[in-house]
Amino acid sequence: MDLSLKDRRAIVTGGSKGIGLAVAHEFVGEGVDVAVCARHADEVEAAAARLRRSGRTVHAAVADVTDPEQVSAFVEGAAAALGGIDILVNNAGGARPGSFASLTDEDWQRDLDVKLFSQIRCTRAALPYLRASGAPRVINVNAVYAKYPDPAFFATTVNRAACLNFNKALAQELGPEGVLVNSVNIGFVATPQWSNIRERRAPELTEEEFFARLAAQEVPLGRFGRVEEVSGLVAFLASDRASYITGAVIDVAGGMGKYV
Ligand SMILES: NC(=O)c1ccc[n+]([C@@H]2O[C@H](COP(=O)([O-])OP(=O)(O)OC[C@H]3O[C@@H](n4cnc5c(N)ncnc54)[C@H](OP(=O)(O)O)[C@@H]3O)[C@@H](O)[C@H]2O)c1
Repeated sequence: MDLSLKDRRAIVTGGSKGIGLAVAHEFVGEGVDVAVCARHADEVEAAAARLRRSGRTVHAAVADVTDPEQVSAFVEGAAAALGGIDILVNNAGGARPGSFASLTDEDWQRDLDVKLFSQIRCTRAALPYLRASGAPRVINVNAVYAKYPDPAFFATTVNRAACLNFNKALAQELGPEGVLVNSVNIGFVATPQWSNIRERRAPELTEEEFFARLAAQEVPLGRFGRVEEVSGLVAFLASDRASYITGAVIDVAGGMGKYV
């Protein structure tokens, strides 16, 4: 399938590793110029060096998406470096496991900031550039837990549900302007954040054993997903082949989530 993405310009928040880096790789492979951000400078630089091997323009910056000023500076810098923005992938985030009893107000606020408010602020900052694009796209990376509550990930469950409402309402508001907004809901995909969760929850297990145990409980396909199994869908949603899809929520989760 020809995605015709060549020479488009994309921002991927949290593009230094995991799903975000895979999406950035998919984009440069399709001839897209990309901008990535994350908080750890060494990982941002390492990712940028790998992405630049494609020959595409790569803008990389250290930015925390929970800080409004850093979001503005990153988006402005990206637009200047790439000559505009056609695609925004709101991917930065992380799990904050915890039951209702264990989460403090500070935990809730931090989770809301990195999930919902990062999507709000990055979209607001990118919108003037998206409006000037011939094929503007916002793709939000969310979680199956938004629709499939799990008290072990209490804050994720609640705050991702808000993100899905943001996704749909934004699609409705921006539809008349031709800005397409969609969500990709992740189940269990093997990334560095899961390595951290295993270290905290089950240090006695190998990563393989830990993933296999979780997948056996929750995932009909019986395994964790790979980042490449997410990035292809994101590239498709960014492309002209997805020109009549907006407000959609698509699971990449191996069937995880008991809902219709
Ligand atoms: N993997 C899964 O199974 C799964 C499931 C459900 C949802 N998700 C969602 O998918 C997205 C990607 O997750 P992942 O698994 O690829 O995680 P990951 O491997 O931990 O990567 C997360 C990326 O986001 C960046 N990031 C985190 N907090 C940030 C902040 N405040 N400002 C800027 N960048 C930030 C990280 O870099 P720094 O740490 O250097 O900032 C990194 O680049 C997240 O939103 C996550 O919640 C993933």
